[in-house]
Amino acid sequence: MQKKGDSSERVAKGIVNQLAAIIRTSQIHNPQNVAVLKSVDRLMELLTVVFGEESAVNLELVGEYFYLNESRIKVSMDQLINFDYLVHEYKKLGLGSITFGNDVTAEDIQAFLKAYLSAAFTDVPFDELAMAAGGISSISVAIPRVEKDTKEETDIRKTVKATYFNAVSYTKGVFEKIKSGEKANIKRAKRAVQSMVDVLLTEEELLMGMTAIKDYDDYTYHHCVNVSILSIAMGQKIGLSKSQLQELGMVALFHDLGKMEVPQEVLNKPTSFTDDEWKIVKKHPMWGVRAILNMKGFDELSIKAGIVAFEHHIYRDNTGYPDRRFPHDLDIFTRIVSLADQYDGMTSSRVYSRTPMSPEKALSLMMERVESQLDPRLFKFFVNMVGIFPVGTALMLKSREIALVYGANMSIPDRPRVLVISDTDGRKVQGHLVDLAEKDQDGTFKNSIARTLDPNKFKINLAEYLL
Ligand SMILES: [Fe+2]
Ligand SMILES: [Fe+2]
Repeated sequence: MQKKGDSSERVAKGIVNQLAAIIRTSQIHNPQNVAVLKSVDRLMELLTVVFGEESAVNLELVGEYFYLNESRIKVSMDQLINFDYLVHEYKKLGLGSITFGNDVTAEDIQAFLKAYLSAAFTDVPFDELAMAAGGISSISVAIPRVEKDTKEETDIRKTVKATYFNAVSYTKGVFEKIKSGEKANIKRAKRAVQSMVDVLLTEEELLMGMTAIKDYDDYTYHHCVNVSILSIAMGQKIGLSKSQLQELGMVALFHDLGKMEVPQEVLNKPTSFTDDEWKIVKKHPMWGVRAILNMKGFDELSIKAGIVAFEHHIYRDNTGYPDRRFPHDLDIFTRIVSLADQYDGMTSSRVYSRTPMSPEKALSLMMERVESQLDPRLFKFFVNMVGIFPVGTALMLKSREIALVYGANMSIPDRPRVLVISDTDGRKVQGHLVDLAEKDQDGTFKNSIARTLDPNKFKINLAEYLL
């Protein structure tokens, strides 16, 4: 099963790659160029693989992502340039999707390419393309599907919010149950995590945005849920299957379960720990293992959760805690959870007495520690995932407007999509979305980031805008 999923994923990525290559090369040379013809052949091979199981290949752009026959194509780092190129081409032409029927030939693709190139330079490129390509029965084009209307958008936000707060209240419930000596049921966590995985697969940015709001009460519960979300998102980036994401989300949710035994006054202490307090805090991994093994519904997953709870403060160079007699290799889930844990801890206010760090500062600190403490390869994925300017980062724009990062631009990490929340005179405005990758007609960027801001200093309530 897994193997089949992997290969269809590879084919889907290949199709995007080849299509981008064909369009790009034919723009430089001409559609009859040898390099173009070779790419067309390669595209044909890939399409044929899909035709083995489906009667057509529909390549649709929704937002910043491509979907092949309704399945989202994951973007990998090495293909970013081609992906982005094709995204821009689709947008330039006003294209929503291209569909190849299983009777398509290399000649049809070349004819389509000709139509494409001549349409690209007109004022109404989509209409021209649809007309010019009208004679090719095996290839059809469509405009983007109607954007989600505001009501639908509001409903999605509600679902995301409900999913997030459900998970928090479940976590709180488990902590309190265990604290009072009752047995909590691990199986009930599965539902909470299941819906987080589902939401993450479709509404990643919104759910990640929820983790950026750091001024909640009950830090510990939010922290567990945030670490779970960030871990699932990481898992998705490295290509874990849905059931693996579910497991990862579960073990991440329980990583700090042992903290319920650390006295509240220590946990929420506004100043640094004394040596004695540190000794207590350092016991939470072991206490976590004990609590997990005591839960109802103990199964194989409990063992995995126990391993991560035990290991999540052990570093790559074998320092950290708890003390161990022999060094050992850390579990892959631990390495993912540790990244999410450090990041969320540093960017939150209620952990170990620190004032919250800006996301960029947290990332640069993690960068310094990466060799000794973290997994350098996973860290690269992590940085790529949260972006240089993670969702929720407060920014001062060159125009003197204040804005919040709302979504990343995959290929131009320093030009995210932002929500402008105050005008050039510092007056609060109804938030409106601006894409910092947008250029003027003369090719210069319309607006740019001047610097990041500390939301606490500027009294920006992230929750107000992101929810
Ligand atoms: Fe911890
Ligand atoms: Fe933690």
